[in-house]
Amino acid sequence: MRSVIGVLDSGVGGLTVLAALERALPGAAYVYLGDTARNPYGSESAARITAMAREGLHYLLGEGATVLVIACNTITFTALDVLARETDVPCIGMPSEIPALETARHVAIAATPATIATHVHREALARRCPHVRVTETAVEGLAAAIERGDRARAAALIAAAVQGWGDVDTVLWACTHYPLVADLWQAAAPHCRWIDPAAQVAQEVVRRTDGATEPGSVRLCFTDERAAGGLRATAYAENLWEVVAISEKRGVL
Ligand code: DGL
Repeated sequence: MRSVIGVLDSGVGGLTVLAALERALPGAAYVYLGDTARNPYGSESAARITAMAREGLHYLLGEGATVLVIACNTITFTALDVLARETDVPCIGMPSEIPALETARHVAIAATPATIATHVHREALARRCPHVRVTETAVEGLAAAIERGDRARAAALIAAAVQGWGDVDTVLWACTHYPLVADLWQAAAPHCRWIDPAAQVAQEVVRRTDGATEPGSVRLCFTDERAAGGLRATAYAENLWEVVAISEKRGVL
């Protein structure tokens, strides 16, 4: 069966993963949902993130998705285990094991508070490369600032986040929103190497679908018009998009 690829994020951040998917599987049918009405997810409880993500995935399945890509670290590490058990459709989340980090001396993990609280990246790296030092940095409010297209606020939060990184040489963007302000990160810590796991996710989708995807186009759906601010920073700024309602579409996946 050829796949229709559903992509879920709390807002515009997952568009960084969608862009990598399109590079790996050009011309495939994609339906993207960003829950802009309820963004950010990253300071919410695991129970609430799970409930919100369940509604988003249910919406994508209703729109014909046959593979679900969770283009959000926060959802992946707090809710994916539960949600994947509720459906037969393959669910592919963000990776915790990232080979590109293994050559570093000192890695900073930049992510939302919810993702940092799981320590998944630190533990995965410690298992494979115990000699790599890890600093975890929760950047409260950054995804929301990116979502609004507020670069001044994003720059201030990033400047505060890099304080105390010392000899960090490699940074993992463990929030899909963060590469949308790559230039601000690079200006704040110019000596660092920056790792965006989006291409790794795209390769996993190619592997799981055998590259057999339904031909089609990209459909962009958001739950609130707030998408407009953040969309400007993405590769999809000129695309048509629609506002959809998901919160009344309850039910088991
Ligand atoms: N894009 C999401 C991630 O990768 C989080 C943004 C949010 O806090 O909603 O973690």
